[in-house]
Amino acid sequence: MIVKVAVAALILSWLEFHGVLAQFNWTTLTATDTLTWTPCYPGFQCSLLAVPLDYDDPSKGNASIAITRLPSTAPPSEYLGPILFNPGGPGGPGVGTVVLSGAAFAQLLGPQFDIVGFDPRGVTFSTPRVDFFATAAERQVWMPPDLNLRYPSLNSSSDVLPHQWAQYQLISQWVAQRDAEQGSWMQYITTDNVARDMLRIVQAFGQEKLQYWGISYGSVLGSTFATLFPDKVGRMVIDGVVEAGAWYSGNLTLAMLDTDKALESFFTGCADAGPSRCAFHAPTASQIASNLASLTHSIHAQPFPVLTPFSHGIVDFSFLRDYVFAALDTPYASFVGTAVGLADLAAGNATPPFSAASAETPQFECSAEVDAEPFFGNTFEAQIAIGCGDFLAYDENVTEVREFYENEAKLSSFADNWALWRIWCNGWKIHREGRFMGPVGATNTSYPLLIIGNTADPLTPHLWAQQTAEQFPGSVLLTQDSPGHTSLVAPSLCTHGALAAYFQNGTLPAPGTVCAADAELFPAINELPSNSNSTLTSGVVLKRSSQMSEEDVQLLEAVRAIGDAVLPVAPRGLRKAFKLP
Ligand SMILES: *[C@@H]1O[C@H](CO)[C@@H](O)[C@H](O)[C@H]1NC(C)=O
Ligand SMILES: *[C@@H]1O[C@H](CO)[C@@H](O)[C@H](O)[C@H]1NC(C)=O
Ligand SMILES: *[C@@H]1O[C@H](CO)[C@@H](O)[C@H](O)[C@H]1NC(C)=O
Ligand SMILES: *[C@@H]1O[C@H](CO)[C@@H](O)[C@H](O)[C@H]1NC(C)=O
Ligand SMILES: *[C@@H]1O[C@H](CO)[C@@H](O)[C@H](O)[C@H]1NC(C)=O
Ligand SMILES: *[C@@H]1O[C@H](CO)[C@@H](O)[C@H](O)[C@H]1NC(C)=O
Ligand SMILES: *[C@@H]1O[C@H](CO)[C@@H](O)[C@H](O)[C@H]1NC(C)=O
Ligand SMILES: *[C@@H]1O[C@H](CO)[C@@H](O)[C@H](O)[C@H]1NC(C)=O
Repeated sequence: MIVKVAVAALILSWLEFHGVLAQFNWTTLTATDTLTWTPCYPGFQCSLLAVPLDYDDPSKGNASIAITRLPSTAPPSEYLGPILFNPGGPGGPGVGTVVLSGAAFAQLLGPQFDIVGFDPRGVTFSTPRVDFFATAAERQVWMPPDLNLRYPSLNSSSDVLPHQWAQYQLISQWVAQRDAEQGSWMQYITTDNVARDMLRIVQAFGQEKLQYWGISYGSVLGSTFATLFPDKVGRMVIDGVVEAGAWYSGNLTLAMLDTDKALESFFTGCADAGPSRCAFHAPTASQIASNLASLTHSIHAQPFPVLTPFSHGIVDFSFLRDYVFAALDTPYASFVGTAVGLADLAAGNATPPFSAASAETPQFECSAEVDAEPFFGNTFEAQIAIGCGDFLAYDENVTEVREFYENEAKLSSFADNWALWRIWCNGWKIHREGRFMGPVGATNTSYPLLIIGNTADPLTPHLWAQQTAEQFPGSVLLTQDSPGHTSLVAPSLCTHGALAAYFQNGTLPAPGTVCAADAELFPAINELPSNSNSTLTSGVVLKRSSQMSEEDVQLLEAVRAIGDAVLPVAPRGLRKAFKLP
């Protein structure tokens, strides 16, 4: 239960998510090759589109793609078609994120568009759906809710890496066996086929070209589409860019190029913010860094047992590593709360950070089937099936995986978490012959891409955005001067005004544009939104200026709302959201 595995705050949002998404029963729809719209969520319409499971052999049967739209409210003469959004992961629930934030998308992008979310094949409401386990209990045993068990630091003890290696070798054997029993369909759940599905969606809308916004892994989907169908690009924004060559090679080491820069922004931001805004304050950045190192060292030596009315668990080295790493994804929403949590830990009180960052102890019927449980996400499974299915196959022994990790650790101190990706796909057995694996790029896309990269993104370095811009001559790279993963972490009039103008009017920002964030990195705690205990409203505090018009403020609010709905699922399939402890 991806849902329950996350932090309490994230759980809350998934329960809210569940409440909203449970309003519609997708199995009442029949998939057809046209879009037949049925009212589903408030203001939304839904449809199931039949597409070939195997584009090379339609006799293998169909997949059905769950699609939702918030229809355009402009007069038909002004209608500009659908914009498809992908929230990353891979495996992020496109339907859910758009249902949660469709109105904000429409506010930002304009009423001329249908705002469209879809669950990629294998994901959530689309079928066939990737499930590794038959029951919720079985899933629970393999994927414990505690983050430190789920994402153990490879540096917490010498046998973690070998055990993780063995665990995912086992998963890959197990899933291959299960898939073979089910007719070997999982080989078709790959990014190239999702790109082909997007073209089918566009055509079913009666349009010729794709209008698309993809963040994080959604950039791989976008650049793959633009490579396969360069003449079908209407508008394409990719934001928080993964260089697709690295993706398809299965080596995501360079993801860590700017990670420690994002951590540095916590130290310098905290030092500058002062003790009233940053609870983990010390006079200099290097003292804060050294205080965090001491705290990490002491927790490694002696972890905290934590018992709350709703849960119990251990705050240990892995927990702390993950707590800090996850905060780097969404600094503007998280840093203030993270600093409070670190100060609590340093004072010997582990309950607040634990409560903020872990799930309630799950309760379920042991025999309940996975999809009968109150969760809808299968992001973790879909992430592995899609990611590992895309990657060049590799099967390394423990020594080789350790060398890989140690090489990555030269680049970033967070390789102890990130190298897990390499382990998840190590020995993965389901690879379709002839699938697209690059090279990515096209000289003749029918419209230039708008590519957005932050200066200190902990998962997708600026270099990857630059490399991708070079693969698509004519595209424009816009740089947002902020830490965090994707531009959505920090609303910016400059970035998001350019994005809106690109979709509405086709205008591209000047090459080399660098945009500032209109958000506070360390806002005063009393400035935080009063409902910041829900992840659906983050801790992001806008930096307003007197020159801003009411429209400007609405644009920033819309971006904040989109980020709130989308970012909890985007980067690693499971972002650990933060609230003030
Ligand atoms: C959803 O609809 C299907 C088909 O009509 C039905 O079998 C199922 O019980 C429904 N599920 C819920 C939760 O209502
Ligand atoms: C697949 O969908 C098409 C419509 O797109 C339909 O004609 C065909 O019968 C479906 N095939 C199967 C095996 O369901
Ligand atoms: C775009 O370029 C590729 C090769 O570079 C070529 O195969 C394709 O036909 C071109 N497409 C168009 C629409 O010009
Ligand atoms: C992965 O990429 C990194 C960075 O480019 C490189 O140093 C390393 O040798 C690569 N490892 C493998 C196994 O390809
Ligand atoms: C792991 O692989 C390397 C390189 O192929 C090989 O030299 C080494 O003997 C292997 N180690 C074990 C324990 O099998
Ligand atoms: C592993 O953790 C220790 C402290 O516990 C630290 O000194 C060391 O640098 C870490 N190694 C890596 C590769 O991150
Ligand atoms: C698009 O162009 C129109 C007409 O010039 C302008 O009024 C509008 O503000 C532009 N939209 C954006 C988002 O810049
Ligand atoms: C925040 O949490 C408190 C305590 O759990 C609750 O009473 C309050 O209603 C919540 N506020 C919002 C806006 O969700």
